[in-house]
Amino acid sequence: MKKQFAALILAILPAFTFAAGPSVALDKVDIDLRDKAALQDGLQTFANYCMGCHSAQYQRYERVANDLDIPEDVMLENIVFSEEAKIGDHMKIGMRVDDAKAWFGAAPPDLTLVARVRGNDWLYSYLRSFYEDPARPYGVNNTVFPNVGMPHVLAQLQGRQVIPAHLGEGESVDCKQVQVVENGRKQFDPLTGTPITHEDCNQLTVVAGTGSLNTAEYDEKVKNLVAFLAYSANPVKLESQRIGTYVLLFLAVFFVFAYLLKREYWKDVH
Ligand code: HEC
Repeated sequence: MKKQFAALILAILPAFTFAAGPSVALDKVDIDLRDKAALQDGLQTFANYCMGCHSAQYQRYERVANDLDIPEDVMLENIVFSEEAKIGDHMKIGMRVDDAKAWFGAAPPDLTLVARVRGNDWLYSYLRSFYEDPARPYGVNNTVFPNVGMPHVLAQLQGRQVIPAHLGEGESVDCKQVQVVENGRKQFDPLTGTPITHEDCNQLTVVAGTGSLNTAEYDEKVKNLVAFLAYSANPVKLESQRIGTYVLLFLAVFFVFAYLLKREYWKDVH
């Protein structure tokens, strides 16, 4: 029996090693689905920058407008760009899959459920990890999704992001100062307490002043966009949590009565 158990463990072990996941460390993002302003901002970014190529076809404009407290006319004017589209329509786009494959090498997938497939941290990291790479068709690559077919559509906001060590001759960008880590511990100067840093030219670095947003603002923009995608992947999440609380409360109260009843029934049996 023991041997069989050990064999079973060995058999399922590879499943866990594969699940260990991406080779780059993902940045964590904390999403608050109750923050309607953030979700509205994310929706606007999604409509302006993503819906040229990606649909969200399992979602209707009307549902989003209701959930995010957006009046219908505002929604129609600012978010629904197609002339024929109505408020009750699914969030589809006009691009044909065959065309997309020819243009980008891969069809842009529907994004309604992408937050469930990839996770919020992955999306947040991915959208902040495009960098210039002249070897790629659109001149950009991505550290989270190497050789991705998607161009850096938010480049105008973020600015030029580069890996200084990869730059060609004649171009130089200051490398990032990174805190020295030894044996898993961040190093500080023992006298002053300031972090000890070294130059790392393999880190993603934004060339200052090339984007319309600074780093903090860009991160916030992407965070809101990921919040919208997280909402879209599970629009009933807050509602399920609310109902779940009541269900647990009900079960707790029910347990008391069930227990009293049981005591009453069994009292003469013992
Ligand atoms: C110009 C067209 C275009 C635009 C605009 C665009 N994308 Fe993409 N996107 C693509 C293509 C093409 C792929 C598939 C890339 C591949 O598989 O190599 C892709 C892939 C993705 C993926 C990876 C999906 C997966 O799980 O494999 C995500 C996430 C994504 N896009 C998000 C976005 C977001 C968010 C925006 C808006 C900020 C956006 N995209 C705008 C073309 C586009």
